[in-house]
Amino acid sequence: MAQILAVYGSPRRKGNTATLLKHAVRGAVDAGAEVDEVVLRDLKISPCLEIYACKKEGRCAIKDDFHAVVDQILSAKGLMLASPIFFYTVSSHTKMLMDRCQSLWVKKYWIDKVPFGQWTPKRKGLFISVGATKGKKLFDGALLTVKYFFDVLDMTLFRSLLYRGLDFEGDVLKHPEYLEEAYQAGYDLAKTL
Ligand SMILES: Cc1cc2nc3c(=O)[nH]c(=O)nc-3n(C[C@H](O)[C@H](O)[C@H](O)COP(=O)(O)O)c2cc1C
Repeated sequence: MAQILAVYGSPRRKGNTATLLKHAVRGAVDAGAEVDEVVLRDLKISPCLEIYACKKEGRCAIKDDFHAVVDQILSAKGLMLASPIFFYTVSSHTKMLMDRCQSLWVKKYWIDKVPFGQWTPKRKGLFISVGATKGKKLFDGALLTVKYFFDVLDMTLFRSLLYRGLDFEGDVLKHPEYLEEAYQAGYDLAKTL
């Protein structure tokens, strides 16, 4: 059975990205996957302190909830990550998780000396994001951040669902077609794993 981890990156428990991710989770479960869910705002995860204690063994030295999450990510075949756009990138909750994965970057590129860009994909990731405005470049920053985050995880971007013009909690409910797309993306991801 495919193992998928769903990561809720918004501070809003019932916000737009959380609602979309819930639908994706439902789709993945209906496709037969086993899905674990992590709500970042419920966890204690420090920002990266840039002490590079991870240079020894590739493991972050800060003792907090990061370790449980990263272990879940690494043992899963699929990741479904949902984050709102905050100042043209991912939310701070999401970014703190990403920055702490610098320890994995250190392991991969400094300790194991994997040549840049030469890794075998081990996982697939779905990225879900929402922003209030409608500009063409709204998701450019977040997509670049996610691209390099997924690189560290030996993960290819399976699909991204990006929705503009949604601001207040519940706005996404006015778009049942977005919810259907999210369900389908979760279903399809589970089927490809
Ligand atoms: C701190 C903060 C920064 C934001 N920055 C942007 C932004 O740069 N561009 C944008 O279009 N919307 C921005 N927004 C609006 C959110 O992306 C929008 O409300 C989104 O629907 C929130 O998703 P959520 O309900 O899943 O948290 C920002 C909101 C907050 C609270």
